Amino acid sequence: MRHSLASLPEPPTRPGNGHLQDWALAPLGLIEEGAARARAAGKDVFRLRLGLPAVVGFSPAWNRRFLTDLGTFRSAGSFSAVVPYLSGGVILSDAPGHGPRRQTMNPGFGKRHLEVLRERTQAALPGVPQGEFDALAWADRAVLALLNAAYFSGEFSPRLLHAFLAPLRQPFPVPALPRPGLFLRVNAELRRLAHQRLTAGGDDLLAVLAPLPGGLEETRVSLAAAHDTTTHALAYALWHLARYPQWHAPEHHGAVLKETLRLYAPGWMGSRRLGRDLVWDGVRVPRGALALYSPYLTGRDPGLWDAPGEFRPERWADKPPAWAYLPFGGGERLCLGMHLAQMLIHDVLGALPPLRAVRGDATPQPGITLGPRGPLVVRRD
Ligand code: HEM
Repeated sequence: MRHSLASLPEPPTRPGNGHLQDWALAPLGLIEEGAARARAAGKDVFRLRLGLPAVVGFSPAWNRRFLTDLGTFRSAGSFSAVVPYLSGGVILSDAPGHGPRRQTMNPGFGKRHLEVLRERTQAALPGVPQGEFDALAWADRAVLALLNAAYFSGEFSPRLLHAFLAPLRQPFPVPALPRPGLFLRVNAELRRLAHQRLTAGGDDLLAVLAPLPGGLEETRVSLAAAHDTTTHALAYALWHLARYPQWHAPEHHGAVLKETLRLYAPGWMGSRRLGRDLVWDGVRVPRGALALYSPYLTGRDPGLWDAPGEFRPERWADKPPAWAYLPFGGGERLCLGMHLAQMLIHDVLGALPPLRAVRGDATPQPGITLGPRGPLVVRRD
């Protein structure tokens, strides 16, 4: 027998607006409560009322289906569509066009090509300040310089790059507002640099993307996907190294970054629209409904992790179950910039002097990406 969406557990609603108010103001508490109620009912999904029917799942089985059944779980009409920064390129394309499109882009972001960029990105890393400094603000500046080096050999106007990416960090609805003037200026700068690559050659990421169909849009959209995610991951990693200096050694940095991303997945929530009806665990979810998965919820699921809220890099001596750890998503839509982000962050961590945490607020704040409320004041030892 098939049940309707109404049979699923849900977090408490508010009269008149369902879950919309909590979704806007305190989404982590909302989804944590939804997951707790689902678990208590023996389910791995719960529903939300966000003006349209929505279902959130958090088990490895849900993640696997979500990320591999691309005919059912469609990007068109997802949350990315309402954010001009992310609304385009490979992020918003769907099967059957998505796969071939990704294949044209993957080599530029593969490990072999990234090695070509590495000398340039390492040289672009800003110095670590003396004395006390805010690791969040420093990570922001550092990632801007590193991405400028990787994408543009450092030739994109740093002021314009900063102006372009800064609104992404703001709470909703700021990142969703149209910015036609700013986007025009960014597109003009992209065209200027792409013209140089197409005539004089080059080997940075723009040189790889510029000749592709829609290559400048791919450049702009992937930059937006790259910046806050990498900044927040780096800031959290710095903070944890400063708090637990016994982990600040090259042989531990891999586990530190994994543990940081498990606890504070910057891509805390991924959304799709159902292209056809879905039957999940006996419940029929209608075509057109919003479907969500959450690397944050899965990464903190007490059924999957011991002491899920604690920072324990030693847990990475063992491999987690499949589809239980997905800070970069998975399947065909696996993060395009996964190797780039890992390379940049590892190179930064490897170049860092010993740090001590002074004071800070690492409370996760969910916006387009999840990051620390900050500041995160650390001191060079
Ligand atoms: C630590 C840093 C990063 C994290 C945690 C992260 C996380 C993610 C996640 C979770 C997804 C899948 C979203 C979904 O399934 O809805 C994704 C997709 C994507 N990411 Fe990243 N990302 C990071 C850095 C980057 C960088 C540096 C780039 C630059 C190229 C990038 C570009 C993209 C793109 C283009 C997609 C869409 C891929 C597709 O749909 O085929 N990301 N990322």
